[in-house]
Amino acid sequence: MMKLIDPFARPISYLRVSVTDRCDFRCTYCMAEHMQFLPKKELLTLEELDRLCSAFVGMGVEKLRITGGEPLVRRDIMTFFRAMARHLDSGALKELTLTTNGSQLARFAADLAAIGVRRVNVSLDTLDAEKFARITRWGRLPQVLDGIRAAQQAGLRVKINAVALKGFNEDELFGLVDWCGAEGHDLTFIEVMPMGDLGEENRLDQYWALSDLRARLAERFTLIDLAERTGGPARYVRLEETGQKIGFITPLTHNFCESCNRVRLTCTGELYMCLGQEDMADLRAPLRAHPGEDAPVEQAIRAAIARKPKGHDFDYSRQRVAGQVSRHMSHTGG
Ligand code: 5AD
Ligand code: SF4
Repeated sequence: MMKLIDPFARPISYLRVSVTDRCDFRCTYCMAEHMQFLPKKELLTLEELDRLCSAFVGMGVEKLRITGGEPLVRRDIMTFFRAMARHLDSGALKELTLTTNGSQLARFAADLAAIGVRRVNVSLDTLDAEKFARITRWGRLPQVLDGIRAAQQAGLRVKINAVALKGFNEDELFGLVDWCGAEGHDLTFIEVMPMGDLGEENRLDQYWALSDLRARLAERFTLIDLAERTGGPARYVRLEETGQKIGFITPLTHNFCESCNRVRLTCTGELYMCLGQEDMADLRAPLRAHPGEDAPVEQAIRAAIARKPKGHDFDYSRQRVAGQVSRHMSHTGG
């Protein structure tokens, strides 16, 4: 099977998949307190998710990250994880992982580890129980800490993702770093993205530039830039004094389309080709129009991946590469 190559001649090796828009938390920067969730029929079924993800794996995706909402609140989600684990067993998939708020990890960590998950990203912005309840509205810190412990006990590596929030967890910068160091977790800070429905007290005044966070970190530690890139918006440093790896994700301040190895699939089957672009492709339609038939879905995926970037990104070298993909597209009838 011909691998997916984007118009920059990069293999698409990483798929992020949202399996639900629901969550058992209501983080103020993410959701309104009273959310209208999608009707069930809009969501891809677990079988449809399996078909789509398997098509991507068949075309060269080697890393699958399951996200949400909160992926572990999706009913019967382990059935989907087990289905994806067959691609780990076959060797086609190198890594199956998830991003979670940790609330259900105590229940699922052992099962996840058993089917071959090695790492989890846990979103955790504060170690203060009262602040945690405030920022997540519905979340409770001890439950998440229990989940993280269960993950560790199951042998999963834990990476903590903390959204940097001015006036909220600024005072916990070193607390989070020290705790992660002591517990053996990697830590990544995420610059907050302005989103709708943030509620009264949570407007853009919560924006805390990671450049400032980094400068403050450098007051206490020696930061060694790591060349390591994951193909996404994260950059990493090592703290010379402790050996810890710290990541920075700045979705607003850079354009990652150029170095991107990944695409994102929503829980309704929309494929976003780039974090920095609105452009998306509906994969649910071909999926539902052709039950039990893989070719139309593969064609739709290839057509999406082959879509050229617009405007100032355009240049001749990319043109030529895109042409190669197009030939393949016409070969497969896309
Ligand atoms: N800005 C930055 N990160 C966000 N997340 C959710 N909303 C935002 C936002 N507005 C991150 C959180 C969350 C993960 C799924 O995405 O870390 O837990
Ligand atoms: Fe959003 Fe994650 Fe918070 Fe759930 S836990 S509300 S998905 S940020």
